[in-house]
Amino acid sequence: MSKTILVTGGLGYIGSHTVVELQAAGYDVVVIDNLNNSSQEVKTRIEEISGQSFELTVADVNDNAALEELFAKYNFEGVIHFAAHKAVGESVDYPVMYYQNNVSGLISLLGVMEKHAVSNLIFSSSCTVYGETKNPPVTEQTPIQKAESPYGTSKILCEEIITDYAKHKDFKSILLRYFNPVGAHPSSKIGELPLGVPNNLVPYITQTAAGIREQLTVFGDDYNTEDGTCIRDYIHVLDLAKAHVKALSYCDKMAERVDVFNVGTGNGNTVLEVIRAFETVNNLKLNYKIGPRRGGDIEKIFAETTKVNDVLGWTAQYDIKDMMQHAWAWQQGLGE
Ligand code: NAD
Ligand code: UD1
Repeated sequence: MSKTILVTGGLGYIGSHTVVELQAAGYDVVVIDNLNNSSQEVKTRIEEISGQSFELTVADVNDNAALEELFAKYNFEGVIHFAAHKAVGESVDYPVMYYQNNVSGLISLLGVMEKHAVSNLIFSSSCTVYGETKNPPVTEQTPIQKAESPYGTSKILCEEIITDYAKHKDFKSILLRYFNPVGAHPSSKIGELPLGVPNNLVPYITQTAAGIREQLTVFGDDYNTEDGTCIRDYIHVLDLAKAHVKALSYCDKMAERVDVFNVGTGNGNTVLEVIRAFETVNNLKLNYKIGPRRGGDIEKIFAETTKVNDVLGWTAQYDIKDMMQHAWAWQQGLGE
């Protein structure tokens, strides 16, 4: 009998790719998503890719009755918790909304998991917990910094709550600290759908190339890096999705109650390298200029990936050119 996994936020950017990979790995999937940052159309797209259907409950993870109904109906093998708000800038303007959605959402989920004795949780954390780092790469032992934003605080609080809860209950959890997820499914059927003007680099690049934005501004070229622009560890969203499947099977057999993994490629790219990869692989010129630094930006961060490679048996397959090719193909398909 196949195992059933609850995926919260499963119609979102990372969740949708993960549902595809879970179905490919033979899991039955149930999704709860309140469509706060996604649409029901994504369900159809996922099903087109996988050739398999799944149940969707349109509800908030803070809606206890909705969760209860799902946990009463299914004997979940585990839960992957993506549902959260994720915009750093927005979190500064609306901190309570971020605590409510991200922290209360987790607590609500844990309450129902406890009641129904569901004991495996994969949690979406972020490299943002490392803050400003002195000497990348960062390992899982690199100390967590006080967060710069309510979003970052919400991720640190969630990590702490999960770790504390697992000390007292028969519970196992894997915290995945994502680096910078970019790109889209190679079929171009699912990808990132930023609302309004994107804050993140890659959607800004693709929207500029598509003529939706006039010009990309590179935020600073006076950093202490090869070409003066910031370095990040960009990871293809489909590689990231596959890491969740590996984490689920490891969760069952791990000795620790809670374990944490960096999920990145281990390679850092500067902003100008990303732009060049985009131009080369898609054979076009991007309209960009160098502007001032963006407040709060970290100069350089990328992952040490030995642990995720060795323990989960996961390695990123796609490189920066694949990421840029798939991101552009997805952008071109939007609006069709
Ligand atoms: P996303 O916004 O595309 O997906 C989140 C999904 O959750 C959306 O479909 C949204 O409608 C849903 N959702 C939000 N709040 C909900 C709630 N209370 N109840 C039910 N559904 C809810 O975001 P994403 O990029 O796929 O991110 C997924 C997770 O990964 C988030 O926890 C995010 O913080 C984390 N993360 C993302 C990034 C990134 O760069 N995208 C980096 C690090 C960590
Ligand atoms: C941001 C968040 C981080 C989150 C991540 C993924 C902050 C401080 N951090 O990280 O918590 O996990 O997004 O959602 O907001 N850039 C430009 N021009 C642009 C946009 C970006 O030059 O128009 C540069 C940035 O300065 C940075 C790099 O591109 O050097 C990547 O930026 P971005 O995609 O916003 O991700 P992060 O800043 O790494």
